[in-house]
Amino acid sequence: MEPRAIAILGATGSIGTTTLQVVRTHPTLLKIAGLAAHTRWRDLIAPVQEFGVTTIALSDPQAAQEARQSGAFPASTRILEGPAGLTEIACLPEVHTVVSAVVGTAGLVPTLAAIQKGKTIALASKELLVLAGKFITAAARQSGSQLLPVDSEHNAIHQLLRDKPAHDIDRLILTASGGAFRDTPLEALSQVTPKQALQHPNWSMGPKVTIDSATMANKGLELIEAQWLFQVPMDRLDVVIHPQSIIHSLIALTDGSLQAQLSPPSMAYPIQDCLLFPLRLPCPAPRLKLSEALTLQLTPPDPRRYPCLGLAQAAARQGGIAPAIFNAANEVAVEAFMKGQLAFTSISAIISETLSQSPQHEPSSLEDLLAFESQSRQLASRLALGRTP
Ligand SMILES: NC(=O)c1ccc[n+]([C@@H]2O[C@H](COP(=O)([O-])OP(=O)(O)OC[C@H]3O[C@@H](n4cnc5c(N)ncnc54)[C@H](OP(=O)(O)O)[C@@H]3O)[C@@H](O)[C@H]2O)c1
Repeated sequence: MEPRAIAILGATGSIGTTTLQVVRTHPTLLKIAGLAAHTRWRDLIAPVQEFGVTTIALSDPQAAQEARQSGAFPASTRILEGPAGLTEIACLPEVHTVVSAVVGTAGLVPTLAAIQKGKTIALASKELLVLAGKFITAAARQSGSQLLPVDSEHNAIHQLLRDKPAHDIDRLILTASGGAFRDTPLEALSQVTPKQALQHPNWSMGPKVTIDSATMANKGLELIEAQWLFQVPMDRLDVVIHPQSIIHSLIALTDGSLQAQLSPPSMAYPIQDCLLFPLRLPCPAPRLKLSEALTLQLTPPDPRRYPCLGLAQAAARQGGIAPAIFNAANEVAVEAFMKGQLAFTSISAIISETLSQSPQHEPSSLEDLLAFESQSRQLASRLALGRTP
């Protein structure tokens, strides 16, 4: 059997490099057909050589030009550029699975194009479903494309739901680590720095998702992602804090019993599950050692510590454009916080004000949605500028 060909959008990031690790472990089953990133072309040199990749893309045209002129890639390597380059990589005829792992929403167009071609999508970029869940799921239904969740929580639920009839399921329960400030006194939160926020207790991830973990905006995005992936309403979704990040999610069954999925906190597990689905093979990550004592805690989140969670739930219930506004305002606010222009506690304030000052709207097309989303980004930027750190 031919190895399954994988394209990675966001190949230089945390998810992208773990994907390469999984592919490296299963050379007879998986191969790399294309790699795409934004600017960090130097980080593509080694994987291009190791995996014999013939096509890469850099969404930043200047980075693509530098890569071509560097002489660091084999002469036969095609180096595509701009957003269209990402789409071409995602739609290469030989590609079976596209790992969609661009941070933010820049991966929307290439991912949607791959869905329309019927490719399997290993979806890490939760922002895409939050922004355009309606259009993405409709396109997948039409083409028969399979959306497999990379997010460890959703992947856990995907594993738990396999072969279970819908009437057996009562609720889906996502776990959350609680992020960098889980135990910080509430009154100290307004003074925390980006450096402190980037110190995640359990997971090694990219900067945006690490900050989102600290505010739990990440869990809010994940609730909205779960609505689309599993087609369940918000009132059947719960969040519970689990500091050890070993239980990745739970499902509550109609009889009242719970089932959980456990593994060490390594993204290699869910990524491999998506790439090899439905095969199960040894994963290149540590195992849980039950020969050592293991303490697992589950506690409800404190809404005073994590206001972003409630805002995401409210946006999801509102529907229409509101989840996209939540995501846009959060991206703007996180960027301002990282630049030292906004206090950590103001991230939720910017999201809340942007949501309340934006009109309700049900987008009629993707273009309509993107136009509204862009307006809310501008509004959030103005609101962020108006605040001092
Ligand atoms: N990391 C995790 O454990 C984890 C877990 C679950 C879900 N996720 C989700 O997975 C996604 C990626 O997260 P990450 O932690 O891997 O992020 P990351 O380490 O920051 O990497 C981001 C990747 O996206 C690329 N990128 C950024 N802007 C781009 C653009 N405009 N066009 C094309 N590529 C662009 C970057 O390329 P350059 O390097 O060239 O800038 C890089 O390859 C996020 O949506 C995140 O929420 C991550």
